[in-house]
Amino acid sequence: MSPFHVTRTLPEDATGAALRADVLRGLTGTPKTLPPKWFYDARGSDLFEKITELPEYYPTRAEREILVDRAGEIAAATGARTLVELGSGSSEKTRHLLDALTALHTYVPVDVSESALVQAGEALVAERPHLDVHALIADFTAGLTLPDTPGPRLAAFLGGTIGNLLPAERADFLASVRALLSPGDALLLGTDLVKDASVLVAAYDDAAGVTAEFNKNVLSVVNRELGADFAPDAFDHVARWDSGLEWIEMRLRSRTAQTVKIPALDLAVDFAAGEELRTEVSAKFREDGVRAELGAAGLELTHWWTDAEGRFALSLSTVR
Ligand code: SAH
Ligand code: TRP
Repeated sequence: MSPFHVTRTLPEDATGAALRADVLRGLTGTPKTLPPKWFYDARGSDLFEKITELPEYYPTRAEREILVDRAGEIAAATGARTLVELGSGSSEKTRHLLDALTALHTYVPVDVSESALVQAGEALVAERPHLDVHALIADFTAGLTLPDTPGPRLAAFLGGTIGNLLPAERADFLASVRALLSPGDALLLGTDLVKDASVLVAAYDDAAGVTAEFNKNVLSVVNRELGADFAPDAFDHVARWDSGLEWIEMRLRSRTAQTVKIPALDLAVDFAAGEELRTEVSAKFREDGVRAELGAAGLELTHWWTDAEGRFALSLSTVR
């Protein structure tokens, strides 16, 4: 079997310390917020995979369609020998790229979810005896150190996950990705596009309630890790389209006035009836904005592909 390495660049307690800091900052601020990376414990990663199969959640199918159509062009344009994928999750769609990249030597999936990385990595090495898989358990917003693998490198950031970063975080993130790349390397970026509000809201508030469960899972993470006593069912899932900022906002709305205790922080947090906690944004994009944000980070957009219905885009850019 080909090599499968797992490197943890988060120190064992980094998760605990970072979660405590984020929860303290987020729940004592106004309005209350929680950062999205804490959704993805093993249960959160499984729930996200279920979301990708929902009839309302079109981004996964749209992005897969583009990958199937364009993987050959991507391979020809990049000649990649190393594929680094940020927020790789199950690596399901990535298989289309792995199949097409004929010069590929090493795949480096990067994710905070150890369970998703190990499951995906073990399946991939079993299927692909010639591929070197070097998984990194790491936070892609916190300064990555990549293994020393052959170039050219292709960095991929799929799923529209870039939309889960706030604009200033996006600028920092893209600059840090640019810094990982050398001339001749490329970035493949998946961005969900602005469209009819009803289509967007349905994608984040499905009829079966899977997204609601996913959203509330972040409360279970805080309960387990910090000993908190959130009652997830005392909150309602809310997904709202902000037409000015062009993002979907996910919130949890307290059904009643309640106080939540968080022993690890020695904190009691009061919620008013109807008070909302913001758990995630999912920004939607336009071609000009994507080109401008890439350009500001020193990346030049060379290809822009959408699915047939124009719902989602993949762009390829190179180091300027
Ligand atoms: N790329 C997959 C998964 C998208 S979901 C797809 O397109 O279907 C977002 C993924 O990013 C999850 O697997 C989550 O665990 C990971 N993630 C979220 N924030 C992260 C962070 N700060 N650092 C590393 N991984 C992160
Ligand atoms: N990257 C995904 C997106 O923005 C993550 C996601 C999908 C998500 N559905 C969600 C995050 C619901 C929080 C809640 O589309």
